[in-house]
Amino acid sequence: MATTSGTLNGAVDVAAQEPTNGIETNGVEHIVDESIAVKPNAINDVPRLLEDIASNGEALARDGAQNRRQLLEAARSLVYALETPRESMIRFCWSQSTVFAAIESSIKLGLFKALSKDDKPKTAAQLAETTGAEPVFLSRILKHLGAMGVINETGPDTYKPTNLAKTLTIQKYADGFPCMNDCISAGIEKLPQWLEKNGYKAPSDGKNCAMQIGFNTDLHFFEFLATNPEYPVRFMNHMAAYHQGRPSWMDAGFYPVQERLVKGLDRDAPLLVDVGGSTGHDLAEFRRKHPEVQGQFILQDLPEVIEKAQTLISPDIKAMEHDFFKEQPVKGARAYFMHSILHDWPDNKCQEILTNLAQAMKPGYSKILINENVIPDTDADWQTTSLDIIMMSLFASQERTERQWHALAESAGLKIVNIFTAEKGVESLIECELA
Ligand SMILES: C[S@@+](CC[C@H](N)C(=O)[O-])C[C@H]1O[C@@H](n2cnc3c(N)ncnc32)[C@H](O)[C@@H]1O
Repeated sequence: MATTSGTLNGAVDVAAQEPTNGIETNGVEHIVDESIAVKPNAINDVPRLLEDIASNGEALARDGAQNRRQLLEAARSLVYALETPRESMIRFCWSQSTVFAAIESSIKLGLFKALSKDDKPKTAAQLAETTGAEPVFLSRILKHLGAMGVINETGPDTYKPTNLAKTLTIQKYADGFPCMNDCISAGIEKLPQWLEKNGYKAPSDGKNCAMQIGFNTDLHFFEFLATNPEYPVRFMNHMAAYHQGRPSWMDAGFYPVQERLVKGLDRDAPLLVDVGGSTGHDLAEFRRKHPEVQGQFILQDLPEVIEKAQTLISPDIKAMEHDFFKEQPVKGARAYFMHSILHDWPDNKCQEILTNLAQAMKPGYSKILINENVIPDTDADWQTTSLDIIMMSLFASQERTERQWHALAESAGLKIVNIFTAEKGVESLIECELA
């Protein structure tokens, strides 16, 4: 296409222009030919990706959902290859924030509940009546949700819920959206500003990172979380929803619980101490999945979390207020377990946490089990790398590579004896002993 067309505001359609390698219209020199902005990102990869999708699709039909993730990755790669850079840019800049706002408003309004009441299609007017929203406003939100695949458009101003819309009627899943607004997104948005001001190096102080600019506070993330009783609840729900539907360290074929934990167990010593265990979902899962394993289970967290946990946990789990920067009061346990704890803290703070545990361990018997991401050298999962940027923005901390985990363990007088990994994008189980 070589014609030059105008746009609504009178600007020239760049897509229709000849390549502008060299000098750009406003006088800024380009280092690339601008015409690439409107050509597919990697059109030559498309045939191979289609073959990949076809073979994964056949396997899915044959063997069930075992290779669903590979198929999803291939489909995503196809979208990236077909999209033009201009389309990718608009998707990043516009779609994420707008669909987020539409979803969060719909959750607060009760729209997904109204839509999911039954499987019959519903008009915007019916949904406006049920929710009490202004009909014209609601039809705009519904159109965007439909365009983004959050709900299904079945006709003009008529919609049915998708499984995603139905899932968003469940508090645990819905809470991710206000949780991001409460205490996360504004911090991430200010990362470029923090980095520019601080010479493009990773932050190392959880009280001086992008989070403090974003939320206009001097507080550490966890102190900020405690400023509103709704924040920790939504945060815990979001964490719990994030962990759903993924292999768990205690599942068969992941960490050999009998062989590595139960064998050689001293019945008088505590079995499992969940350090920073929130409301105890890991311990509850362990009790459910391994009812044959008898022993003392201890949940530790900050006072406000333990107060909530006490209303939720079963009586065979002992809830204990404990600050992991202080001396560990439970000595000689078989295992001190930490799930998504160390990624919240920079290396010097992790060293303190690990040293406190190392001092409570019984040599030759106690272990530390760290349930965290181990970033691979290549082909890292986008969920893990997203978390890494979140950690950088909010906590001045990080997701770690295998080399970084070894260095951290050694800095606290420990050694990693094994790393158990189930699948890409799922936290590994890092088993440590005293060095
Ligand atoms: C990211 S959450 C992980 C919770 C849980 N292990 C999980 O995987 O769902 C971090 C936890 O650390 C707790 N925490 C933060 N600072 C703490 C401290 N100084 N001592 C003990 N727990 C702390 C928080 O209250 C929160 O429950």
